[in-house]
Amino acid sequence: MSLEILSCRNLKKQFVENQVLRGIDLQINKGESLAIIGASGSGKSTLLRCLNFLEIPSSGEVSLRGELIGSRQNGQVLYQERDLIPIRAKIGMVFQHFNLFPHMTVLQNVMEGPRTVLKLPKSEYESRAISYLEKVGIPEKRNAYPSELSGGQQQRVAIARALAMEPEIMLFDEATSALDPELVGEVLDVILKLMQEGLTCVLVTHELGFAYSAAQRVLFMHNGVVLEEGSAYDVLVEPQQPRTIEFLRGHSRFQLPSPKNSQ
Ligand SMILES: Nc1ncnc2c1ncn2[C@@H]1O[C@H](COP(=O)(O)OP(=O)(O)OP(=O)(O)O)[C@@H](O)[C@H]1O
Ligand SMILES: [Mg+2]
Repeated sequence: MSLEILSCRNLKKQFVENQVLRGIDLQINKGESLAIIGASGSGKSTLLRCLNFLEIPSSGEVSLRGELIGSRQNGQVLYQERDLIPIRAKIGMVFQHFNLFPHMTVLQNVMEGPRTVLKLPKSEYESRAISYLEKVGIPEKRNAYPSELSGGQQQRVAIARALAMEPEIMLFDEATSALDPELVGEVLDVILKLMQEGLTCVLVTHELGFAYSAAQRVLFMHNGVVLEEGSAYDVLVEPQQPRTIEFLRGHSRFQLPSPKNSQ
């Protein structure tokens, strides 16, 4: 039986007059990988940020393991900052810009969350940090500062830092789009390995070839709604919606297979 990890229902987000999310329904089960694609401004980052409460949704519901996040009052869900801290710890996030702490070494960056948020003892947060640096392939950089690393190495540290919290789910927001092309592969390789090991994750990406080969499910967002959703093959190779078809045409440099029924 599939175990629901994160879901949202009729999720909406409005910035002043700008309705950015117009009612998103989503469910991600344990071990599942979901890629979100869509044009710039369609609301992909806002959706991820609402799912881990870097932005507070205007309305709708988010549940972690089937439990509503926030408290319901008069039909509205209200969020208290102190209740959101443990929730954010369970929903890891990796950004386009790595956001490492520049004054801390690689190891200190990765230990920081387990030390200050999870309040683990030193022996535990240190060995945990080292094991996640090994997982992303750069244990030897533990004493370096972020400025001494390449972009790809910095992003791998950011991934280790998020993993060290041992979250229920990881959200990746265009984790490779700030990287020089020759550094993209090393980060995608790490993400792919994590997915193959069963990491539950949502991946906003413009790397459609990667989404096709790595994600089990793909979702196309347009103007704050989910316009099309299905297997990677259905959405990326045989899309049904004209908007999806048009979007994919603009990404023709990515090598996707031909539809099965084309000769
Ligand atoms: N903090 C904010 N305040 C006001 N408007 C915002 C804010 N964050 C996002 N928006 C607006 O929400 C809309 C969607 O932005 P979002 O960043 O979610 O798009 P996106 O799909 O991630 O785009 P991209 O592919 O360029 O990253 C845009 O019109 C943007 O200007
Ligand atoms: Mg974005």
